[in-house]
Amino acid sequence: MGKAESFEQVLKESRVFKPSKEFSALAHVKSLAQYKKMYNESIKSPDKFWAKIAKELHWFKPWKKVSDWKEPFAKWFVGGQTNICYNCVDRHLPTWRRNKAAIVWEGEPGDSRVLTYNDLHREVCIFANTLKKLGLKKGDRVAVYMGMVPELAIAILACARIGVVHSVVFGGFSANALVERIHDCQAKAVITCDGGWRRGKIVELKAAVDEAVVKCPTIENVVVVQRTRNNVRMEPGRDHWYHELAASVDANCPAEPLDSEQGHFILYTSGSTGKPKGIYHTVGGYMVGTYLTSKLVFDLKDEDIYFCTADIGWVTGHSYIVYGPMANGATCVMYEGAPNHPEPDRFWRIIEKYRVTILYTAPTAIRAFIKWGEQWPQKHDLSSLRLLGSVGEPINPEAWIWYNNVIGKKKCPIVDTWWQTETGSIMISPLPGATPTKPGSATLPLPGILPECVNKETNKKMPPGEKGLLVVRKPWPSMLRGIWGDNERYKKVYWSTVKHSYFTGDGAHCDKDGYFWITGRVDDVIIVSGHNLGTAEVESALVSHPKVAESAVIGVPDEMTGQAVTAFVTLKDGNQPIESLKDELRAHVAKEIGALAKPKQIRFTASLPKTRSGKIMRRLLRDIASGKETVGDTTTLEDYSILAKLRTDDE
Ligand code: WTA
Repeated sequence: MGKAESFEQVLKESRVFKPSKEFSALAHVKSLAQYKKMYNESIKSPDKFWAKIAKELHWFKPWKKVSDWKEPFAKWFVGGQTNICYNCVDRHLPTWRRNKAAIVWEGEPGDSRVLTYNDLHREVCIFANTLKKLGLKKGDRVAVYMGMVPELAIAILACARIGVVHSVVFGGFSANALVERIHDCQAKAVITCDGGWRRGKIVELKAAVDEAVVKCPTIENVVVVQRTRNNVRMEPGRDHWYHELAASVDANCPAEPLDSEQGHFILYTSGSTGKPKGIYHTVGGYMVGTYLTSKLVFDLKDEDIYFCTADIGWVTGHSYIVYGPMANGATCVMYEGAPNHPEPDRFWRIIEKYRVTILYTAPTAIRAFIKWGEQWPQKHDLSSLRLLGSVGEPINPEAWIWYNNVIGKKKCPIVDTWWQTETGSIMISPLPGATPTKPGSATLPLPGILPECVNKETNKKMPPGEKGLLVVRKPWPSMLRGIWGDNERYKKVYWSTVKHSYFTGDGAHCDKDGYFWITGRVDDVIIVSGHNLGTAEVESALVSHPKVAESAVIGVPDEMTGQAVTAFVTLKDGNQPIESLKDELRAHVAKEIGALAKPKQIRFTASLPKTRSGKIMRRLLRDIASGKETVGDTTTLEDYSILAKLRTDDE
């Protein structure tokens, strides 16, 4: 076998899992043929396709034109007026869903709340009226820095109701990160909590806001939702308890008809430079995209109890806890805290308690579960589950199989969903009743989406099995409308790498069935002796070793080979980080991929530095591996202490 071929070996999964007849029979999309028909029509006549979907939702005024494309700027449902909050809430009120649970919330300490769609409507109206009372108007920006409490969902829906653009900043970010984001979008107000619960401790959100806001002259008001009842300082005239404001406003607030292209939210995501990019989404297209994908990918039915474990501070929480599922009238479980509090079985407890039917989580969580051991899920009745989802990074085939066997008990289809903050909604994913799955592949594009793996130089589609850049060839409704305040950066980052195409920043290849295999960010490619190695591939090989829980692979400069592979490895409980295991792992990687993928250096570590969204901070690992001081913004570190540890774990 040639070297180029052997690279693909690990990700070249031969296992295929077909949806069961029982699942397909009841699914929204019942067969591969039905999917293909829908897909082909959507690509042939996109405007017709999207108009049909959009008409399932409420519009105050119909659009004049479905799409308007002046590369790289898109408009969708031009001239139409709608309101995403109306579609997520009010639309369900004249139906039996009025008294259906919209949010089933579980606090970390074990408290819980259930809000019906009727309750949600009342709460959102009151919240919207408090924002109005503070003088906020259509087009104003508001920063939202909260824990995972129902008021977070309520707050963003309230903004959407009156056309205020929300910018949610993840509650795990530091005060400095908050300052940077507030400055960039010139937010007028901050909505926060006194604190949030995380692993039994209070995260002092209000204290961080106090520290931030003194540096933010644009902030006029701070609204504080009471959650943890810790002592907080309230600045007179600037800070307001939400419950006090709420007591004095009306519970009636009609949803404002908004232009389809009115701003909806800004969400910051890290780029290749230190400065985060304010990804900007608008109302109509985002609404249609999240609505359709929630329905098709999660096969949402009214009976479902849907649990997405993401934080609303990330795009997954925006699109698949709040907007998409609620536009479908779904019951959404929302959990406040850590997955291992008080014990590593918290998710399984929640699933058993609420009889969750759909679980949407991330590979990084799955690998943690593997590490913690099967005894935790085995303690619980998970028989209510019917569908599993994964998002955020490529899922290693071994983790996929574990998810399938241990959590899904081999009866739940797995949807590995590829998308980005920028794409707004899922782009490549199986449809659970239609698409045969292959562990590690996000499979096929969703209707209306035209991704391709291309050669950067020729802009031609790569032949099956050969890696290229992942691009999207046609605009789609929920695509970003730009980077807030920086059209040049928008053009440069997304529209200059491959002509007339949206560049995702990811590498991928397609197999002979047209299935997409995402190999990770192209900036995560390591070139060893002139050969490209995807970090995801080497990691996948390492994780397929029975003793390995998780790994992060980086390239370090090497005199002989240009770059060399360094692997940081965490072991499953009960395994010793002994020298001979390094040799065993090297041999394993050589066997799985080829000798040149063998890590030159392997470092065992108790855990890996990650952002709160679970992404491994490779830049930090690179600095550690090359012995450099760590520089730059480390505020997203999951656990600062890991850094110091990694340095001293040196052999
Ligand atoms: C990666 C998260 C492989 C990818 C929704 C993408 C994935 C980036 C997958 C976006 C997946 C996300 N398989 N890779 N199923 N899902 N990614 O903006 O590199 O936080 O470009 O959006 O995550 O991350 P973001």
